Amino acid sequence: MPRAVVVGAGMTDFGPHDQPIEELFADAAFLSIDDAGVSLDEIDAFYFGNALGGQAESDTHLAPKLATHIGLQGIPCQRFEDACATSSNAFKHAVQAVEAGVHDVALVGGAERCTPETGLGTGEMTKIFASAAHRQYEQPTGLTFPGVFALLTKRHMHEYGTTEAQLAEVAVKNHHHGQFNPNAHFGRDTSVGSVLDSPIVADPFHLMDCCPFSDGASAVVVVSADFAENFSGEPVDVTGVGHRTDAVPLADKASLSATQSARDAAREAYDQAEIRAEDVDFAEVHDCFTGAEILAIEALGLFEDGAGGQATADGRTYIGGELPVNPSGGLKSKGHPIGATGTAQIVELTEQLRGTADERQVEDAMTGIAHNLGGDAGTTVVTVMEERA
Ligand code: COA
Repeated sequence: MPRAVVVGAGMTDFGPHDQPIEELFADAAFLSIDDAGVSLDEIDAFYFGNALGGQAESDTHLAPKLATHIGLQGIPCQRFEDACATSSNAFKHAVQAVEAGVHDVALVGGAERCTPETGLGTGEMTKIFASAAHRQYEQPTGLTFPGVFALLTKRHMHEYGTTEAQLAEVAVKNHHHGQFNPNAHFGRDTSVGSVLDSPIVADPFHLMDCCPFSDGASAVVVVSADFAENFSGEPVDVTGVGHRTDAVPLADKASLSATQSARDAAREAYDQAEIRAEDVDFAEVHDCFTGAEILAIEALGLFEDGAGGQATADGRTYIGGELPVNPSGGLKSKGHPIGATGTAQIVELTEQLRGTADERQVEDAMTGIAHNLGGDAGTTVVTVMEERA
């Protein structure tokens, strides 16, 4: 019997925003609060994710600042930072606190500003984000995150023969899905030719293999299953949250292509939910680069090791295919405001499992998973959510 449920979910559109982070997050927070039908005085904890605010905008201690802005003074507020896995880790802690009976109604979310609206361009933001790489062994070499995932993907190509055209198919599929998502940063179709003709960023990745830097915010309301019926928001069960880490730097990982933290987090989440990979109806995965999606769908057990590229090229991961992956458009098309991405995946799971995802609805969606990694997959959080029985 699940003990924590999501009763409210909301997000801003992803892309450039000129609002301060308080206002950006408030938009998502009130969407989730209104969706849940909770009043502010019923919320007894706030779990928040933001990764870059300290470095990019000299803005720290954000949890109480944002809580004050939305009228949540006095309750416990906590900010999380785990690179891109920031708000899924906030979500995990909220779920555990609700399950333990420490809190009854938790607001969880994330917000990030990464576009030139911050006054910083792609170069500066890339450098700031590279602080998630190892300080002594990787940063001095100039390694940035397109390079990190290029190395992981090159190893996969070497071991399994995965091709650049198969990587491009991930981008084509996710942009196809993203055109049905009104919140997507780049919700427009593309083609394999356009991906392969776009400029090289880090071999084998072209510009169109990369997610963008986005601004955005997302939020969900987590409550105890015991009184889910007190709220008007349709509840969706949280049945498993696995959270594991792997060695950082890259040189200390046992395997570059296996992303061990994802395998371990998936096993933990599936065990908690008492499901197997075969039971998953759709997945939101962390496709910061096209190769990352192929590594993810294999690590999650959705496809055999080495089969992810061909499965994608064969159309098996489209909405309407046997296992839809990233119906939201994923990070590639929907966008990637770092600290908002984890809870945005939970927003998509909630909408899909309620059957309210409109044109991007996965038919008969009963069990969905979210896979959110941080850094070089030094952190991974995998969440299982299920339609209320
Ligand atoms: N997907 C689709 N289109 C994109 C895009 C993306 N990721 N990034 C930019 N574009 C488009 C822009 O709209 C623009 O189109 P236009 O010429 O029609 O207006 C064009 O490509 C160039 O945009 P620009 O903003 O000048 O690109 P850029 O060179 O500054 O940045 C990347 C492009 C891919 C290098 C940058 O988005 C990036 O570094 N992404 C990775 C972010 C990252 O590492 N996140 C952490 C993950 S772990």
